[in-house]
Amino acid sequence: MSESAAEKIQSIETPEGTFTLRLVLDDLGSIYPGMIRYTVEVLRGAETVYTYAINTYESARQGSLFDTRAAAEIVFARLAHDVASRPHLYTRPRVFTRPLPGTGTADVVILQGSPRRFGNSAKVASWCDDEAARAGLSSRVFFLQEMEIRSCIGCYVCYDQGYCPVDDDMPEIIRALESASVLVVCTPVYTGTVPAGLKAVIDRCQWLHAREKILGREVRARGLLVAVAGRRGTEPFVCVTGVVDAFMGNLGIRPAVPVLIGDLDRARDVEKIGGVEDDVRAALRALLAPRDEG
Ligand SMILES: Cc1cc2nc3c(=O)[nH]c(=O)nc-3n(C[C@H](O)[C@H](O)[C@H](O)COP(=O)(O)O)c2cc1C
Repeated sequence: MSESAAEKIQSIETPEGTFTLRLVLDDLGSIYPGMIRYTVEVLRGAETVYTYAINTYESARQGSLFDTRAAAEIVFARLAHDVASRPHLYTRPRVFTRPLPGTGTADVVILQGSPRRFGNSAKVASWCDDEAARAGLSSRVFFLQEMEIRSCIGCYVCYDQGYCPVDDDMPEIIRALESASVLVVCTPVYTGTVPAGLKAVIDRCQWLHAREKILGREVRARGLLVAVAGRRGTEPFVCVTGVVDAFMGNLGIRPAVPVLIGDLDRARDVEKIGGVEDDVRAALRALLAPRDEG
């Protein structure tokens, strides 16, 4: 959570009523070291009709020509001028944040990270989907390859207002993750780590991290990784487990012991490895069982 302080306040009388401009500083150092967010708010009476925010991670260093504080001051001055000269544009809230679509209500969210629609990860995802249904829970499988998900551009705008400016299919995933109680990641190992499409989703979930930190929400979800690899042994999974652990940790999701299935170069088909389906189902069942989390 952040510490807020109004740095500057200006009142503007217009034919449309009295407007107040506020420059608010939020210390987000508890989220990222040294992160400061400046928000310029325009209020008409008590109603906020416009906000602009910028943080120190998205702009130039302090002391440079347009450091974060200077940028916020410039916006403040321009808005003061604009409100005074065109107050009719500020009589109603101007909302630029896109609402998240759908209700997002699925108890279990399954991210299927393989580009292969009918491969091993997809098979594992179908077992998990079925196991959720057997437990009487709703579930949703996201076939990431079939979605338009672009890479994170590292703009840090999500720490300003809790949304991502990149326009693609990501809001659906964010909405689903926000309300899920269990997250399952099904993925193959690609060159030692997760496929690019899944990595893009993982990076873009920084948005959810920002939302939760800014809103001060506590996440109680649990997570399961099921990974498949061509080679035998534990070595192919070292990086994948690290990446997915970091992903879940970032979102406050508690990861269970992962199910790691190797030797698929030989077996080709995960269904041909005896006992694996039972292992996957049992691992998920253990997470779905109701428990008192205190
Ligand atoms: C581009 C690519 C990279 C791969 N890299 C690895 C790897 O580093 N280690 C490994 O054990 N298997 C690797 N594999 C094999 C896959 O992990 C394996 O075939 C897996 O079962 C595929 O899962 P899927 O059917 O869900 O796509 C790779 C496969 C591909 C296509």
